[in-house]
Amino acid sequence: MSEHLISTYSPLPVSFSRGDGIYLWDSDENRYLDALCGISVTSLGHNFPAVTKAIRQQAGNLLHTSNIYNIEWQQKLAHRITQLSGMDRAFFGNSGAEANEAAIKLARLYGHQRGIKNPQILVMQHSFHGRTMATLSATGSRKVQAGFEPLVSGFVRAPFNDVGSISAIAKNNKKVVAILVEPVLGEGGIIIPDSGYLNSLRQICDKNNWFLMLDEIQTGMARSGKLFAFQYEDIIPDVLTLAKALGNGIPIGACVARGKAAEVFHPGNHGSTFGGNPLACRVACTVLDAMVKNKYADNALQRGEQLVSLLKEGLAGNDSVLEVRHLGLLIGIEMKQNCQAMVALALEKGLLINVTAERVIRLLPPLTIDSLQTNELAELLIPCINTFTHNS
Ligand SMILES: Cc1ncc(COP(=O)(O)O)c(C=O)c1O
Repeated sequence: MSEHLISTYSPLPVSFSRGDGIYLWDSDENRYLDALCGISVTSLGHNFPAVTKAIRQQAGNLLHTSNIYNIEWQQKLAHRITQLSGMDRAFFGNSGAEANEAAIKLARLYGHQRGIKNPQILVMQHSFHGRTMATLSATGSRKVQAGFEPLVSGFVRAPFNDVGSISAIAKNNKKVVAILVEPVLGEGGIIIPDSGYLNSLRQICDKNNWFLMLDEIQTGMARSGKLFAFQYEDIIPDVLTLAKALGNGIPIGACVARGKAAEVFHPGNHGSTFGGNPLACRVACTVLDAMVKNKYADNALQRGEQLVSLLKEGLAGNDSVLEVRHLGLLIGIEMKQNCQAMVALALEKGLLINVTAERVIRLLPPLTIDSLQTNELAELLIPCINTFTHNS
């Protein structure tokens, strides 16, 4: 670890020098199965040929001009995303937090345009929306917020997957202008709401003139088994935020809007120097094309089912495993006890995983994973979990 890095992370004692498909190699040429994808980023796997080619070609053409000028790849990407999502317009930044910042600003501006002073946004307990001041204030985790007070005001909070409490807020609070919610809580522990949850939120939003803003930064881009997780229900959001896998490792975030929400911002309201640059937008177009053409959402569904049934079989009888839950290849294994130590144990065996919400082993493998590789993942992970619980 470098004494010259500001100490915001506590990295594991490994560094990778190259990657190919679902595998990474460290500087000693040891191979690891990457079941985390840099937390849902490299969903096409490492060194995906079309992405590598797009980066090379665009780097030799043009990296940056400015949003002062038209950017052709940005327009193409906006067209592609809106076509695939049913939305109308997109704004591009460089990260998930930036995409959510844009959404938060959009909702506030909408409130002011409606004559609501100090508009509020309804957010959820145990949610995660980023680390900037507004997005950490929206996040439902004291751990993320503590020490950074004063927080940004203008958020009201409800329990996740509890439509009743949102209806109650709608009755009593006339300052709310939008709901910001993840379709599945990612950092919060892979919490999947009841089916119909988003439909109910859509109805409440329509009734109260609120925007439904979905943070699909972790669930989007085919990971859930649909290109966007909201496509499991019969709805379209007003605002959709994307990042992570959109660039397969090239930083890009998008705040996508529809209908009234797409008309809120005007020139001068928002911007970003790097946002929407030709390189990131061309890569994101390539990623989307590959996901659609190769039907990786379907593969996420099939491999998700395969992996979860192998895990359930291999972990049956282990009393420390409370639940295995998943939507596509967004997988959480909830344990009885804190299982942070599992990450180092799996690393020793050549497997990259993650633990979130202290007790949930999180798997976010590449959507390109095949059936044999899925067996390999299960064969690496199951003994790790059984050894861990036996010794703890
Ligand atoms: C649902 C969700 N929203 C927002 C973010 C923040 O994204 P970024 O780290 O790119 O700012 C994350 C990152 O984990 C996330 O999972």
